[in-house]
Amino acid sequence: MAMYYIKTFGCQMNVNDSEIIAGQLEDMGYKMATDISSSDIIILNTCCVRKKVEHKIYSMAGKVSQIKTEKPGVIFGICGCLAQKEKENIQKKIPLIDLIFGPSQAVSFRSILEQYLLNKKRIINCNNREPFNLQNVPIKYHNPISAFVQIMKGCNNFCSYCIVPFTRGPEESRPAAEIIDKIQQLVSNGYKEVFLLGQNVNSYGNDMKNHDNLLSLLTKINKIKGIERIRFTTSHPKDFNLGLIKVIKNGEKICEHIHLPIQSGSDKILKRMNRKYNMEHYSQIVRYIRENMPRASITTDVMVGFPGETDEDFRCTVKAFEEIKFDSAYTFMYSNREKTLASLFDKQVDFKVKKERLWELIDIQKKISQQKNEKMIGKTVEILIENKSKKGVRNQYWGKTRTNKVVVFKNKDNGKGDYNNILIGKFADINIRRVDAYTLYGELVNVKEK
Ligand code: SAH
Ligand code: SF4
Ligand code: F3S
Repeated sequence: MAMYYIKTFGCQMNVNDSEIIAGQLEDMGYKMATDISSSDIIILNTCCVRKKVEHKIYSMAGKVSQIKTEKPGVIFGICGCLAQKEKENIQKKIPLIDLIFGPSQAVSFRSILEQYLLNKKRIINCNNREPFNLQNVPIKYHNPISAFVQIMKGCNNFCSYCIVPFTRGPEESRPAAEIIDKIQQLVSNGYKEVFLLGQNVNSYGNDMKNHDNLLSLLTKINKIKGIERIRFTTSHPKDFNLGLIKVIKNGEKICEHIHLPIQSGSDKILKRMNRKYNMEHYSQIVRYIRENMPRASITTDVMVGFPGETDEDFRCTVKAFEEIKFDSAYTFMYSNREKTLASLFDKQVDFKVKKERLWELIDIQKKISQQKNEKMIGKTVEILIENKSKKGVRNQYWGKTRTNKVVVFKNKDNGKGDYNNILIGKFADINIRRVDAYTLYGELVNVKEK
């Protein structure tokens, strides 16, 4: 039996693209391998948002080349954002590569592979302006309960540090009717949750005439019978408005979790980043969210060491974190990306300074997350159980609250051993007993039938 192996780097969009590639491979009769060395097709689905990840990818590509030297019949492909950014470099550095294609080609992977199988010649296809069409593309989801649904591709924002608009191309929204159709199919396959994806979901529909926007799309999805939870990411503060907050508040299935990347707490830096909002605007959104949905969680992305970031600017970020108190944050060190406007800026920040700022901020956020989670001790929360816990502890499962907190618990032992995953996909009430900064641990109160 022919086997495939896909290694995914990067964001949720890439995870979904890998699921799309896997779906097509399975449709062609391939099976997923657990072990890379026993695979007939090896695909690295890559990211290039920061330099560090590129190093990792090239080093893994070296290992795959070794496998291919021993087994020349193996088909080796590199796709995703790094492939889009540097197809020339990849050919130079990885002479054994067979397929190079960009994020926009994930949906047409089958035809790329078929073409390769026909004449065994290297294929390079990185056109990021190909129309975005996911209709009838088979997808192999890695999670049986919660499914990613791309509602748009690309990004038009050109934040000055960011490579994504160059790799993923311009924004293109998927028609609402198609999205709804897809979600209805997911419901009939047992899915309870959908996770709507886009680089800036707030601009959904802007590229289409007389079309839905994110608010009307969410309202329509909220009416689909059988779907229990709706999540979406990423929101851009410049386009986030009170109307959306009301839609989340009134849409009983729309989860009260808002991921709202702040990037910096300094107006000067935000301006240089081309983020098109200032701290007054950002804080106002946070106030609106808290007034309307006091229990909502707010998470963020932040960067330290952007060119020109002085200690005073960094203190503004620290102050914002201390005031806003995010539930959690992804913290990054600025990484200089060729092609982007910021790569031309002077006053690049010294690596040592960046590192110190990063650790300071991680530390501050960790304490805040811990304090916020501690407030949950003794409370009972509803979760959707997603899977068995990875560590393999018998009867231990994990799920998420509507606010996106991970909760781990043990099912009651009936003395007959494990329960064969019967709780996966069920809703349950869990009484929280202990916490750390990242996870809540509790006891099962009851399993609900929904
Ligand atoms: N579209 C989303 C996510 C983009 S990439 C958004 O607008 O937020 C995810 C995160 O990576 C970004 O939010 C940003 O914090 C970080 N990032 C992007 N480019 C970066 C760079 N050059 N250096 C460091 N971090 C970066
Ligand atoms: Fe990058 Fe900005 Fe687009 Fe997000 S909104 S993908 S950070 S350019
Ligand atoms: Fe990386 Fe591309 Fe996503 S650069 S973060 S995989 S959009």
